[in-house]
Amino acid sequence: MPVLHDKTVVLGLSGGIACYKAAELVRALVKQGVTVRVVLTRGAAQFITSLTLQTLSGHPVAIDTFDLTQESEIGHIRLADSADVLVIAPATANVIAKLAHGIADDLLTTVALATRAPIVVAPAMNVNMYRNPVVQANLAKLRQLGMHLVDPEAGWLACGYEGEGRLASEASLLEGIKTALTPQVMAGERVLVTAGPTREAIDPVRFISNRSSGKMGFAVAAAARRHGASVVLVTGPTALEAPLGVERIAVTTASEMRDAVLAREPWASVVVMTAAVADYRAAHPARHKIKKGNGSLSLALEQTEDILSEVGARRRADRLLVGFAAETEHGIEHARRKLREKRLDLIVLNDVSQTDAGFDVDTNRVWLISAEGEAEGWPLLDKEVVAERLMERVASLRSSASGPAEPKAGARARRERVAEP
Ligand code: CTP
Repeated sequence: MPVLHDKTVVLGLSGGIACYKAAELVRALVKQGVTVRVVLTRGAAQFITSLTLQTLSGHPVAIDTFDLTQESEIGHIRLADSADVLVIAPATANVIAKLAHGIADDLLTTVALATRAPIVVAPAMNVNMYRNPVVQANLAKLRQLGMHLVDPEAGWLACGYEGEGRLASEASLLEGIKTALTPQVMAGERVLVTAGPTREAIDPVRFISNRSSGKMGFAVAAAARRHGASVVLVTGPTALEAPLGVERIAVTTASEMRDAVLAREPWASVVVMTAAVADYRAAHPARHKIKKGNGSLSLALEQTEDILSEVGARRRADRLLVGFAAETEHGIEHARRKLREKRLDLIVLNDVSQTDAGFDVDTNRVWLISAEGEAEGWPLLDKEVVAERLMERVASLRSSASGPAEPKAGARARRERVAEP
């Protein structure tokens, strides 16, 4: 189940051409299991019909404060209370000014004053309006008041101008909403994540690699960022876009990944290695394409560097080191050995023999094995949710007064809640 599942978003639209994009946002939220209650300003109702939004959200759309007044309840208060998050997208300069000054002259601004939920504001307007010092001062005030701003993008604007002012992309809006709902328990942490496969050349057109898609590592990087950390993501070749606000370092081979990780490792307070690093590479990659012969072909392989072991050897008491283990049999036993040998604080075990977990799928079924060797099985979850929970665990280990414990060699599980994969 996605991170936003079962949440209630009250989505306020104010009057701008970007209202049509809010319709897509409603769809994306509903698809993730979110209850969306739409509020339109009178201006917004000129740009998009309430019927469109009502059809997409499956709930009535409110415009007037008095639309919601029924016999015994104060509708706007009830709406404000029902929100896990209030999102205002698009937010015009006018609504931003009202939010900054506590003006409540319509339903949307009244709900904004009445709610105790976090508020996400996504401005969209003409570039000159956006740059106007009074608008910038109002936005600064919103930030200061603890509202979450999702900045507009630069590009071609419907008014014919070019510049900042375009409503943020759907991905940025969704990430902004998730961040507003996430406690900032990793604020101040510096998280280094590895992800994806590596590729080792056999000749100029062929390589050795594996089935890793990078999804788990990218989800970990996004979750760390969402919880307030600064994040660097070292990734092998994948088709994924870097999560917002995350610095991405693209590498190809195990050796390049090692160099990138060791260069950033002194900076990191938390290292999470999800990458499926090739264990072997061609000992003598051919300079030219290997031509087909008549018989079989043997390829001499040599071992690559074990990056995680190298980082583990540089163990620091003030740093937390998390590894992943991909196994197809005797998972817990192998993962415990890796935890010990690589000197980790935590290892996440994936059973990659299953079709709904591990490589190249959106879900994962993992076991967490602590420094003491204790194994804890999690049910089948979206990788995003695994990453989210993992971050909560990392944060609690980081905040434990004595810091992460030294792994105890040979320690056995005190308690086993799951069958060995
Ligand atoms: N790892 C690494 N460098 C390598 C191999 C693995 O940093 N050359 C890291 C992975 O990112 C992962 C952990 O070590 O966090 C375990 O990886 P895994 O592939 O499960 O195990 P290996 O150590 O490669 O052992 P084996 O292939 O025998 O299972």
